[in-house]
Amino acid sequence: MPHPDENADLGARVDAAVTAALTAIEAATTTAELQAAKAAHNGQGSELASLNGSLRELAPEDRKAAGQLIGAGRGRVAEAIAARQAELAAAEEQAQLEAERVDVTALPRIRTAGGRHPLTMLVDEMSDVFVGMGWEIAEGPELEHEWYNFDALNVDPDHPARGESDTFYVAPAERHLVLRTQTSPVQMRSMLTRELPIYVVAPGRVYRTDDIDATHLPVFTQIEGLAVDKGITMAHLRGTLEHLARIMFGDEARIRLRPNYFPFTEPSAEMDVWHPGMRGGPRWVEWGGCGMVNPNVLRAAGLDPDVYSGFAFGMGIERTLQFRYQLDDMRDMIEGDVRFTEQFGMVI
Ligand code: FA5
Ligand code: MG
Repeated sequence: MPHPDENADLGARVDAAVTAALTAIEAATTTAELQAAKAAHNGQGSELASLNGSLRELAPEDRKAAGQLIGAGRGRVAEAIAARQAELAAAEEQAQLEAERVDVTALPRIRTAGGRHPLTMLVDEMSDVFVGMGWEIAEGPELEHEWYNFDALNVDPDHPARGESDTFYVAPAERHLVLRTQTSPVQMRSMLTRELPIYVVAPGRVYRTDDIDATHLPVFTQIEGLAVDKGITMAHLRGTLEHLARIMFGDEARIRLRPNYFPFTEPSAEMDVWHPGMRGGPRWVEWGGCGMVNPNVLRAAGLDPDVYSGFAFGMGIERTLQFRYQLDDMRDMIEGDVRFTEQFGMVI
């Protein structure tokens, strides 16, 4: 039999160790904290483990009772750990489910749909007028050969538009590349590649070394028109432009042609539009340039000017948007502020 004092002493140490263990287990609020409490109070080097180890030092007749005492203490600790483990695991699972919960009744987060830029919409609207008359859409590169942008259009080598002051020339000089200054090079590209008769519109971006201000941009958009057929006259040009103007600005819209000079048309005209909805009353506004295709241009395209004739026109899209909606400053069109573009609707 163990010495009664010794047993009482061991009992007190087991009780203290068990109490400390239960306190730590209860205090654990996560499974990770519980693992730490388990290691500290029941693992290797813990008070209970070392009491268990010291059984070897007891007299054989004392070992059984002492072993039962320690074993019972460790059993209580192990039970408490298992119970707390189950509680914490359930709580953690619940928290995770809560975090991942999908509220099927929630309103969707409001996402503003992107809209197309008013310039893009205007290009499409104007192109559609022509597509509706059976015309086709033509394209050309923005990085253009000088020949298409100038020579083929009858622009002689010392024409002012060719000077560095208007044109972005692209190095190396021997490649003769420019950022096209107008959509007119698409005229020659169309005449060289398409079957006759030709009825095309070519919208696209153009570049000029113009200073930016309320009515000028260095990068802007034009829409070119070209018709080449037998028997085309100035009346066809006028009728086509008036048709476009009425669709764009209403039935009272009118076109006025003022004599002007473009090397690739003869005669040439500046076209103004009578815009009935203008703020402060209707008035004439400059819209673009036009004329009958110059016979030299037809010849450069290999066409016989005695058989074929044509008309061409080109207008600025930003200008069109500007006076159609009475916009004070063209710069708003390129700043990317949705408060500006939203006013034109969010068409996708
Ligand atoms: C031309 O570019 C000729 N290619 C038009 C043409 C085509 C004539 C076919 C005959 C036959 P002009 O340089 O005037 O012409 O430019 C035409 C239009 O582009 C102008 O009326 C204006 O609406 C617009 N525009 C010109 N420069 C700018 C600029 N810096 N910013 C915004 N729009 C511009
Ligand atoms: Mg001009």
